[in-house]
Amino acid sequence: MSIYLDYSATTPMRPEVLERFTTVAQEQWGNAASLHQWGNRAALVLERSRQQVASLIRAEPEAIAFTSGGTESDNWAILSPYLADPQPGHLIISAVEHSAIARPAAWLEERGWQITRLPVDCHGRIHPADLTSAIRPNTRLISVIWGQSEVGTLQPIAELAAIAHEHGILFHTDAVQVAGRLPIDVQRLPIDLLSLSSHKLYGPQGVGALYIRPGLTIPPLLQGGNQEGGLRSGTPPVPAIAAFGEAAQLAAAELPQERLRLQQLRDRLIALLSAESRLKLTGDPVQRLPHHVSVVVRGGGSGTGQQLVRAMNRLGFGISAGSACNSGRSQPSPVLLAMGYSPQEALAGIRFSLGRSTQMADIEAAAIALRSALHSLPQASLLSPA
Ligand SMILES: Cc1ncc(COP(=O)(O)O)c(C=O)c1O
Repeated sequence: MSIYLDYSATTPMRPEVLERFTTVAQEQWGNAASLHQWGNRAALVLERSRQQVASLIRAEPEAIAFTSGGTESDNWAILSPYLADPQPGHLIISAVEHSAIARPAAWLEERGWQITRLPVDCHGRIHPADLTSAIRPNTRLISVIWGQSEVGTLQPIAELAAIAHEHGILFHTDAVQVAGRLPIDVQRLPIDLLSLSSHKLYGPQGVGALYIRPGLTIPPLLQGGNQEGGLRSGTPPVPAIAAFGEAAQLAAAELPQERLRLQQLRDRLIALLSAESRLKLTGDPVQRLPHHVSVVVRGGGSGTGQQLVRAMNRLGFGISAGSACNSGRSQPSPVLLAMGYSPQEALAGIRFSLGRSTQMADIEAAAIALRSALHSLPQASLLSPA
């Protein structure tokens, strides 16, 4: 048996997307900046893809700058105030950001910038009043992750963006886990910058986008040949961008039905795992990503999450310990710590993330497998329920 339940880590390219990738790689592989017919064909591919990605979030195509992925988009957004003026200022992020925001923010802090990390409650949610009181006269940017990758919690982005807007402060959100899974409408939300990644929505790896609200100018992160209208230098990977566009269009078309289907699977898995007294659901029970289930082992213990991932792998299931980007590091999860979990339990988080191929039978089988994986843990990890 082999059942992949790690769609938050990455998703396989769907057949239509792979076909588009291959066709463009064979027929429209030119350098989009070249002034000849090969270049023109590649440039047309980029523009079609820009429209497809833009319409996933109801943006205008000119507002989409292609990047190498979510990490670059996040770095670009959070570093943009520094790139505009390196004089230290104040930034607000949350205590549960992805490392692609948390690390560059810490880097700025080392250079004299003030960083406020908004606290979260036990479900990982920010209280909008905390944002209001954190704002200072020198606050240059607010960045809050929309759908948390490790615990699935959705933030009240509309309220947070409105507060930023009222105070005239730029607002960025990392929507990497949300895009293609929940509707996003930048026409209705006062969001200035928004990060996307192709490989979370059945597109290829190594490509993403930053939405930049029309009228807003931010300095480039990468300088060189002035591609993407001077915003992002580097020869664009035309086949990958074409495939990203295709993936975005298909995701938008399927979203209403697929969201409901995933929610049903998610809720069934939550019900099955809740029946297991040694497990505790992490993240918000209601305000959560439609495909995401995360739990900690009560009592926890060093290496528990990773041992469970390995035991599940032996049983044929692909899941992850907390965020995939932190796998391999036996450090308590900063996200779980911020939510009030003990350091022991913050070592014992696992995540199931469901996708297009997931069926109800996979969910039932995963719950049974997890029970047996729990039995395989050393006794020290199975302290009595707290
Ligand atoms: C919420 C979030 N932001 C950013 C990223 C980074 O995206 P990418 O892998 O495209 O660099 C990820 C990927 O794990 C993510 O889940």
